[in-house]
Amino acid sequence: MSAFYVTTPIYYVNARPHLGHAYTTIVADSLKRFYRMLGQDARMLTGTDEHGDKIVKAAQAVGKNPKEFVDEISADFASMWDDLRIDHDQFIRTTDESHKKAVQVLLQRIYDKGDIYHGEYGGHYCFGCERFYTEKELEDGLCPQHQTKPEFISEKNYFFKMSKYQEWLKKHIADNPDFIRPERYRNEVLSMLEGNVLEDLCISRPKSRLEWGIELPFDKDYVCYVWFDALANYISALGWPENEADEAGLFSRYWPAEHLVAKDILKPHGIFWPTMLKSADLPLFKHLNVHGYWLIKDTKMSKSLGNVVDPRFAAEHFGLDAFRYFLLRDMHFGSDASYSEEALINRINSDLANDLGNLFSRVLSMNAKYFGKIMPALGTLSVEDEVLFEDAENSAKNYVQLFQEVRFSQALDSLWEPVRAMNKYVDSQAPWTLFKEGNMERLGTVIRVLMENMYKVSYLLWPVMPTSSVMMQEQLGKTFSDKNLNAKVFEDLLASRIHLRTGSEVAEASNLFPRMEKVEPAQKIEKKSSEKAAQNVKNDKSGSKAKNDKQEGENTMQEIEYADFQKLDLRVGTILKAERHPDADKLLRFDVDLGEEEPRQIISGIAEFFEPADLVGKKVVVVANLPPRKLRGLMSHGMILTAESGTDLSLLTTDAANGATVS
Ligand code: MSP
Repeated sequence: MSAFYVTTPIYYVNARPHLGHAYTTIVADSLKRFYRMLGQDARMLTGTDEHGDKIVKAAQAVGKNPKEFVDEISADFASMWDDLRIDHDQFIRTTDESHKKAVQVLLQRIYDKGDIYHGEYGGHYCFGCERFYTEKELEDGLCPQHQTKPEFISEKNYFFKMSKYQEWLKKHIADNPDFIRPERYRNEVLSMLEGNVLEDLCISRPKSRLEWGIELPFDKDYVCYVWFDALANYISALGWPENEADEAGLFSRYWPAEHLVAKDILKPHGIFWPTMLKSADLPLFKHLNVHGYWLIKDTKMSKSLGNVVDPRFAAEHFGLDAFRYFLLRDMHFGSDASYSEEALINRINSDLANDLGNLFSRVLSMNAKYFGKIMPALGTLSVEDEVLFEDAENSAKNYVQLFQEVRFSQALDSLWEPVRAMNKYVDSQAPWTLFKEGNMERLGTVIRVLMENMYKVSYLLWPVMPTSSVMMQEQLGKTFSDKNLNAKVFEDLLASRIHLRTGSEVAEASNLFPRMEKVEPAQKIEKKSSEKAAQNVKNDKSGSKAKNDKQEGENTMQEIEYADFQKLDLRVGTILKAERHPDADKLLRFDVDLGEEEPRQIISGIAEFFEPADLVGKKVVVVANLPPRKLRGLMSHGMILTAESGTDLSLLTTDAANGATVS
């Protein structure tokens, strides 16, 4: 079985955990689950970084000794991950004895290799960053990160010959394009390596100045620089160095890792760490996956600005799975994203309540009404059924591919294509009409086609929304256990269309993702949650505590927010050309002039209602801001609005000018 090992940064214990930490940790958890779903032996590591000046200062500020202080905050991180039900295999602390020993072995090995030397160094030292800055790196004499004046310190220290590996690292990054990803961070590291000669890394602090650290094995007057100590956690956690030669040991099994970090710590991970590994003759990590910042109103979250979001509160208030979905869907991995209660509510309402939740609720209640909760059989498939299956199969493949490329937002968007398509399929197949006509065989097929594809989507969502995924599968009459995950099962999930059992009992209703109302003032999110809130997250099996909403069958009028309506860009356009789709009887192909540079091609499923020639010259209303999508091989960019009455369909026409907006 192949192995997968994902790590988060080990977080500093000078501040309490917030949304930024939770994001990386939730991504790591989702990746671990994703690879488990693929049948791999997946492992996840997180932990806390507990040495260095920063921690000593934070402890002093609250009148505690360092050990007492780090124990308390480290426990806070651990309990946060419990409350967010993070499935990590290990929580490492840099104060663990085994870690300290590993760091000493690593130091000694690099020292013996001749890559560490003793020298005099004078530099501008920022206590916030725990590093020296050169004159050039300072901005107006201030630390570029903290905007504070660094202290000039001159002392004898030990240095790691990082410059020796500069050319080698450049070549490695050039030869392995996704070693650091996304690309912009790879370029950033390459530009750090180009031009300037890398400065050797000062890896010691004299004990006379700082005692809170790991003693250098070759000089007891010094402790190790915190970054050198911290980076080693990724291998010390696997039992290195004791098991380095043991083929059955954790190190052989799981190393190299897949690292997750934000852009703030790109340099230590992109430059210090690979050169340290190279010097120690250890294999490099697989990928460095770098994400952007969660911002609050364009500003990075920080304790000093008082704008930190408490993930416990958000998970408790909005539902843990919904919160996880939002985090992965709204941040394009690599870019910054803005966090707000409004964005979270919008995402939940549009994707979870309107799209996914509504689909489950409609289909299950129709099945209960028409088939008494019993899974109907699949009859002969129509073209529409085939199209739905094929599209869902392609979306599933894209989802898997994109997830592996850490493009979570795009992956989820791809998974939502069949969800949206299924809602449309319900409308176009009109099960209620089939029922009225007594066409029970076709009705059963329609419901079964829906349920099979709903099952596939639910299953694939497990890494992101573990609780809801299991509940959705159960609603479709299937049990799920993560103990049964393996490569064969996953292959079968993607390759086969039929997974459910005719005659099995399915749920009669579903209300997993109720619409969210903005019931709490925004500041509430920023408030520290209580112990009780944490408890609620644990007990909240539905993954959500919002107000219930009615979502039944075909007659339900779903209310939307005014803001949702405002998202539609409705425009007037003239049909310049109309013809039959070459490959689909039900589709027409249009060229529509929306007052833009070029007419748009729009494909519409209205062929059975109109003669194409009759439509040329008509001024219609078009939904202009839908993303382009392919329909039976032709790109469609927009949707022509129609009005339906019984079996009649007419175009929504107007006299307004091309490009006029409809509101
Ligand atoms: N201790 C070092 C890491 C050592 S790893 C060998 C450290 N700790 S930290 O507590 O400052 O954590 C930084 C990490 O927290 C970021 O790289 C990121 O994973 C996460 N985040 C903290 N704030 C964040 C945002 N506002 N947005 C996104 N992630 C952020 O650096």
